[in-house]
Amino acid sequence: MDLTSAYLGMKLKHPVVASASPLTSTFDGMRRLEDGGASAVVMASLYEEQIRAEDSAYALLTEHGSFSQAEAGSYFPELHDYNQGVSGHLETLRRASEALTIPVIASLNGTSREGWAEYAKLLEQAGAAALELNLFLVPVDLGMNGQDVEASYVEVVRSVKESVRIPISLKLSPFFSAMGHMALELQKAGADGLVLFNRFFQRDIDLATLNLKLDVHLSTPAEIHLPLVWISLLSQKLKLSLGASRGVDSREQVVKYLLAGADVVMTTSALLRHGPGHVRTLVNGLEGWLQENGFPSVAAIRGLRDATHTGGRPAELLRADYVKSLTGYVPKRLIA
Ligand SMILES: Cc1cc2nc3c(=O)[nH]c(=O)nc-3n(C[C@H](O)[C@H](O)[C@H](O)COP(=O)(O)O)c2cc1C
Repeated sequence: MDLTSAYLGMKLKHPVVASASPLTSTFDGMRRLEDGGASAVVMASLYEEQIRAEDSAYALLTEHGSFSQAEAGSYFPELHDYNQGVSGHLETLRRASEALTIPVIASLNGTSREGWAEYAKLLEQAGAAALELNLFLVPVDLGMNGQDVEASYVEVVRSVKESVRIPISLKLSPFFSAMGHMALELQKAGADGLVLFNRFFQRDIDLATLNLKLDVHLSTPAEIHLPLVWISLLSQKLKLSLGASRGVDSREQVVKYLLAGADVVMTTSALLRHGPGHVRTLVNGLEGWLQENGFPSVAAIRGLRDATHTGGRPAELLRADYVKSLTGYVPKRLIA
């Protein structure tokens, strides 16, 4: 059975990749994921605020960046598990890149234009096989329009692309008014891959104290639908690699993402829930599914259910599905 998959120009032994998390913040964690069967790991992100905390002179650099938030430093938490300092982060990356037989993809979460370019270069020098840019920009400024937001993303890609030679992917949120156009612009700017989608924090209000609170809930398979739709819409239209992210817990989600056209399938919550060895369960499950259904390889199913294989009129299909799902729903109480 041929499970090999190509991602960001790399040949992987299968498509299941461990995405960034506390499990990939240490050398031992990444080693455990390799032992557990991951075909590549994305190291936990290096946050520009981490660097700023280490280097107070850094503040001088950040005054003009479009992603810069002057007051952010005072909100930023101690990054306990992640906080090995910049040099520690780079050293962990260097060790893992040298010792592991699978590719180690570094992840960068910047705030300033200079930071993105400079730290991307440091991660490349430390041995990263590729770089995932984790963009987190909430456009709370009502004067900032969609074009400004999109332009700032494109600018990040351009500046990182100018400073490194390794492939870069972008881990995106789904909150663009025209996701497809944004993806195309990022490809034009030089992005080699997209990861669809990132999953953000869950802000809540504690009714006992009226304080804002932050909950981290692990994902469930109910979250695959949005990435599934966009991967199926984009996979034939873009040349870049597509990584599926969100809601993978069992082989079913892995297979569905590949059928939609993903090049790799990433997972974090399932590994935090079941442990690093769960990668092997997913890979064995994928292999079993291919055998049971008579497919000789992962390549044979990739994109088999993308938008070009589902009637060729995705806009009409999506609209019809929308209407059908709302009007065709029969409440259980009525059935009983
Ligand atoms: C505790 C935790 C830590 C994470 N740390 C990072 C990180 O450092 N960088 C990043 O890009 N994503 C990070 N993520 C997001 C995951 O990489 C992943 O994109 C997200 O959880 C969706 O995948 P899942 O549904 O398989 O969990 C983190 C997620 C969790 C739950």
